[in-house]
Amino acid sequence: MLKPCLKDAKIRTDKPITFKEYTIYDKYKNLGQGKKYFIRTYGCQMNEHDSENIKAILEDMAFTETDEMENADLILLNTCAIRENAHNKVFGMIGRIKHLKESKPGIVAGICGCMAQEEVVVDEILNKYSWLNLVFGTHNIAELPVLLANVYDGQKQIEVYSIEGDVIENMPAKRDSKYKAWVNIMYGCDKFCTYCIVPYTRGKQRSRKIKEIIKEINELKEKGYQEVTLLGQNVNAYGKDLNEEYDMSDLLEAAAETGIPRVRFITSHPWDFTDKMIEVIKKYPNIMPYIHLPLQSGSNRILKLMGRRYTKESYLELFNKLKTIPNVAITTDIIVGFPGETEEDFKETLDVVNTCKYDSAFTFIFSAREGTPAAKMEDNTSLEEKEKRLYKLNDLINKYAKEANDKYLDKEVLVLLEGKSNKDECLMGYTETMKLVNVKADPKHLGQIVKVKITDVKTWSLDGVII
Ligand code: 5AD
Ligand code: SF4
Repeated sequence: MLKPCLKDAKIRTDKPITFKEYTIYDKYKNLGQGKKYFIRTYGCQMNEHDSENIKAILEDMAFTETDEMENADLILLNTCAIRENAHNKVFGMIGRIKHLKESKPGIVAGICGCMAQEEVVVDEILNKYSWLNLVFGTHNIAELPVLLANVYDGQKQIEVYSIEGDVIENMPAKRDSKYKAWVNIMYGCDKFCTYCIVPYTRGKQRSRKIKEIIKEINELKEKGYQEVTLLGQNVNAYGKDLNEEYDMSDLLEAAAETGIPRVRFITSHPWDFTDKMIEVIKKYPNIMPYIHLPLQSGSNRILKLMGRRYTKESYLELFNKLKTIPNVAITTDIIVGFPGETEEDFKETLDVVNTCKYDSAFTFIFSAREGTPAAKMEDNTSLEEKEKRLYKLNDLINKYAKEANDKYLDKEVLVLLEGKSNKDECLMGYTETMKLVNVKADPKHLGQIVKVKITDVKTWSLDGVII
């Protein structure tokens, strides 16, 4: 048994990263014969993509997927630790699985992902949910065949590494979409913003080598993929941990040069966004003019307490530079109710929103994560007050989102049609600027980038017709 350890998860060593290749031994390839798996994913795109890897590994072992938990022989929850509510949802689901396991004791059930990396969570599992068969973390997904073989041998498996794992190349992926794909460019984060659990659950920053990333993009392009999103907690810091001569701007340029129709990237930290990156984005029409630039707070005092390493002024300076990218859309993340945030601090956040008029934003109430510095800070603001601030902020965000969308009325845009829409006889897809569009179109257009005229505008979506 290897339990996660918070103290070890804080450590950053100079130990060079080992790059390895994914392999699966023949002896594991039939382990899942006749068995069905069900996986539920919580949280960010990184987790979504990890689940795509997990699915492919399970299928390498002859398991087949089911969408219904009740029919599954193997149930996995790929969890998120970023806020308390994600955490609570997972424990609710574990309760449901317990029920199921009482009637079908042969079911194998496990958790993985960011919560599995938390010492407090694994302690709780050992105390209260010891019937769970498997717990593994974000660093050892590639070991799943061995872990499952041990489980089917009758051994409970709690195997979570606290110190960063290797970078595994050639990971198989069962992708959710045939048209757009996530591509990991780096793992982990070294920024240690004081509220954030990610540097503990995902470990030290480890970049993939550029040639491996470009190889993956080329393979996706060959298969007909129209869009790749380069994924990392803090993509602008790409390459800083490698002893190589390239950085994020070089990677973006190389990705654009593959000729894949659309390149996106998330998430950016304002600290590492260079002028060179902006130049590259402007130079290549296949790098999408959409940037997610988390603000978190508009108050310099709170930004300092958050450990964000920028000020409101330097954020706005970068924001204005980004606005020189033609037709760009900029979205953000904001936390309200950080410990010690006063009405005055909150007003400063509203001021920045009024200045930036974001295309949209994800807004959150601060959630104390055990082991992070902010969890120990004095917090005198009531939840009621924090909720009031959140509603006020959301009203403003919605106003600007609608204003940004209004500009699209009667305009022509390019949309990658990627699925059926909830609206009758419509397909859905996104513009280059990441606006959701419901398009009246025949399903034969799925997977195509089409020219669309916008006929109606709402706060969170647009309607249009193919022209
Ligand atoms: N409480 C509330 N929101 C958080 N985020 C990260 N950690 C916390 C936390 N402890 C938000 C940040 C980040 C987004 C992914 O989640 O805004 O950008
Ligand atoms: Fe968390 Fe900050 Fe790293 Fe983003 S940059 S993952 S908010 S520590």
